[in-house]
Amino acid sequence: MDEPVTLEHGQLLTLLFTATQESHLNLGPLKEVASIFSGHGDREEETMVPVLEFFRAITGHENFPDIDFLKAKADEFRTEEPVMLREHREIMDILGRMEKEGGAVQLVLENLSAFMERHSNMEEYYLYPLTFHACSLIDSL
Ligand SMILES: [Fe+2]
Ligand SMILES: [Fe+2]
Repeated sequence: MDEPVTLEHGQLLTLLFTATQESHLNLGPLKEVASIFSGHGDREEETMVPVLEFFRAITGHENFPDIDFLKAKADEFRTEEPVMLREHREIMDILGRMEKEGGAVQLVLENLSAFMERHSNMEEYYLYPLTFHACSLIDSL
């Protein structure tokens, strides 16, 4: 099974690329979103995803990762989480402004905004708190 957060990042980047091809009026803001999101996705995949894999390891779905590696990733996640929250706001602000400005809002832009909001909400409601919980469990290893 592919890791779902990474999979969604790929789908969002594809949607962003499609939007830049189809929305010439919004090219500047879309490129800004793509630039923030590209670094943002990497940050989550390098910090949150490895920490969350701890849960799969303790339920026997993955081989147990190296403990020093997990501890380092837990520290990185805690450092990067405020940055990632800020990036969610920045991305949604730019997309929100584009939606308000565009007289005839393109379907691709609406889809991108809805998908991005759902993805970020899922992370902020469930995945970031779960990652913090994994971090405290990792601390006690
Ligand atoms: Fe994400
Ligand atoms: Fe995110």
